[in-house]
Amino acid sequence: MSFKSLVTFLALTTTASAALIRRVTCPDGNIVENGACCALFPVLTDIQANLFKGGVCGEDAHSALRIAFHDAIGFSLTKNVGGGADGSIVVFGSTELAFHANGGIDDIVAAQKPFIAAHNLSAGDFIQFASAVGVSNCIGAPRLDFFLGRPPPLGPAADLTVPEPFDSVTSILARFKDAGFEPVEAVALLASHSIAAADQIDPTIPGTPFDSTPGTFDTQFFIETLLKGTAFPGTGRNPGEVMSPLQGEMRLLSDFSLARDPRTACFWQAAVNHEDAVRAAFKFEMAKLSLLGQNKRNLIDCSDVIPIPKPFTGTAHLPAGASLSDVEVSCKLFPFPTLTADPGPATSVAPVPGAH
Ligand code: HEM
Repeated sequence: MSFKSLVTFLALTTTASAALIRRVTCPDGNIVENGACCALFPVLTDIQANLFKGGVCGEDAHSALRIAFHDAIGFSLTKNVGGGADGSIVVFGSTELAFHANGGIDDIVAAQKPFIAAHNLSAGDFIQFASAVGVSNCIGAPRLDFFLGRPPPLGPAADLTVPEPFDSVTSILARFKDAGFEPVEAVALLASHSIAAADQIDPTIPGTPFDSTPGTFDTQFFIETLLKGTAFPGTGRNPGEVMSPLQGEMRLLSDFSLARDPRTACFWQAAVNHEDAVRAAFKFEMAKLSLLGQNKRNLIDCSDVIPIPKPFTGTAHLPAGASLSDVEVSCKLFPFPTLTADPGPATSVAPVPGAH
């Protein structure tokens, strides 16, 4: 078969299988592939209005994504450390919320508990659903997948399954590997820090973002972690923090180190200005994360309930006044992409409002 006929064959089979997909109209008029997913629309409406404050990519959406990671990563291919994406961080919160790495997660657990109680969803399902919905509020984000049907957790995850910002790159990559993620996959997951801020690292400056655009899923995070310099008002306050030359921004030592380490630096740099690739990789890795410890065959694909995020229309750029000489180019294999700087004088990055 020639390449051309292969393409034609694939186009025909795709059209044929699309025609075979059966659609179900829910009582509220929404259309889904599997009628079991209809039950999610009232949950979607409730959390968009009352958890995400009208569909905002703010503190609660960010925290919903963070807890989805912290719940799921309690999983190991080699040790019996926990059940992965099973909701144990909520159900066994008295154990897991005492772990140092889970500092601040108690807030989002408290915020999510009434919604879990009000809707007929397991904690594991609710956490991953809220994460996908919260991310959909962020401009430029991928439409994450969601699978329904996780059973209740059997027990708490073990301590030290969640990486800490002061952990070495070796230890971080080993933890990801033990959960089934290669270094390139860990870098893709860290695109999450493009829509993130810290409350606990320095409680005197809550809501300090990890990039200059915490309401947008873009690649500024991968650029700004590579900027030289550590100037920041105040001094180093936490062993997990590296200050940023951008006023009002915080960099985690883990992100700073992964951006420069020979094992991950080229993956990190490859993300810069490649919004489509990062979006696709993050979507793929988030689906994998959300299924850790679960058997996908027992779950129902309800991804068509997740709203479609608004597209990103900006361009990756250097901060105002910066040039390539301000970037600590750490990948030795490829040149750093050509970027222009923002016009005007340097501005400071505003905190994410609503930090607890
Ligand atoms: C090396 C791995 C990672 C480390 C060391 C790490 C560490 C941290 C720390 C220390 C914070 C700030 C917490 C605070 O002070 O409030 C944070 C925030 C956050 N992290 Fe990570 N993280 C890692 C990977 C991930 C992954 C894989 C995801 C999601 C897939 C994620 C999602 C988030 C989000 C969304 C926030 C912001 C939460 C908010 O603004 O309320 N992180 N992370």
